[in-house]
Amino acid sequence: MSEVLPDQVIEFLQTMLPERSELLKRIEEECRRDHIPLVSPEVGQFLQVLLRIKGAQRVLELGTGIGYSTIILTQPNTQKDRHITTVEIDENRYRRACGNFAEAGVAKYITPVLGDANEVIPDLAGTFDFIFVDAAKGQYPGFFNKVWTLLEPGGIIVCDNIFLHGWVIDMTWPERRKKTMVCRVRAFLETLRDHPQLATTLLPLGDGLSVSVKEFVKDEKGGAVSPCGKS
Ligand SMILES: C[S@@+](CC[C@H](N)C(=O)[O-])C[C@H]1O[C@@H](n2cnc3c(N)ncnc32)[C@H](O)[C@@H]1O
Repeated sequence: MSEVLPDQVIEFLQTMLPERSELLKRIEEECRRDHIPLVSPEVGQFLQVLLRIKGAQRVLELGTGIGYSTIILTQPNTQKDRHITTVEIDENRYRRACGNFAEAGVAKYITPVLGDANEVIPDLAGTFDFIFVDAAKGQYPGFFNKVWTLLEPGGIIVCDNIFLHGWVIDMTWPERRKKTMVCRVRAFLETLRDHPQLATTLLPLGDGLSVSVKEFVKDEKGGAVSPCGKS
């Protein structure tokens, strides 16, 4: 299994997307040319819808690539109150991403961080109401454990590529060295499913997405407490 949805459905979903900017189209071309993975356009659109529903302001992204998804995460930002912190381990990609942020005119809304997310996360300041995980797939369980305390009550965490070309569905792998990654992602999805403080759904968009929302903490009278106080 390589694509989860039939080609015809994917083509239709992509036909129904709003027109993307010339810069985003150019970055898509560059990623294809240089074999740099990036979110599919329909995943990008879904993220924008979710950000708007949530009214997300403090966003963390793991796996910047050359900044395609990060630029998408800045939009729409009509209140100009959303800030994205994005972490990339590869210096060349980090630099290219910074150039793309400047070209897109969104650099002021982004804090790009160069480094291994495993080392960077414990030093991040503040909390986040939206976390997008799109870095090394076999490390998703570790990333999740590290970002858990940074995710605000009511916060959303989205993970990309959770089907791994369908291997996670079939529990097959094209070569032996992929087995650990596939098993880890499958176990990670079960962790999300069984987590007492999360509601999770899996979506067959792109290479599969998990979308989880963290429960609000209850105060002693059973009322929901938001990060900004009692709601
Ligand atoms: C799928 S690409 C990100 C694509 C990007 N989100 C987009 O859609 O434009 C994954 C990126 O994660 C980076 N990465 C892998 N492991 C990482 C780690 N431990 N910490 C930070 N970045 C990592 C890779 O270098 C790669 O650029």
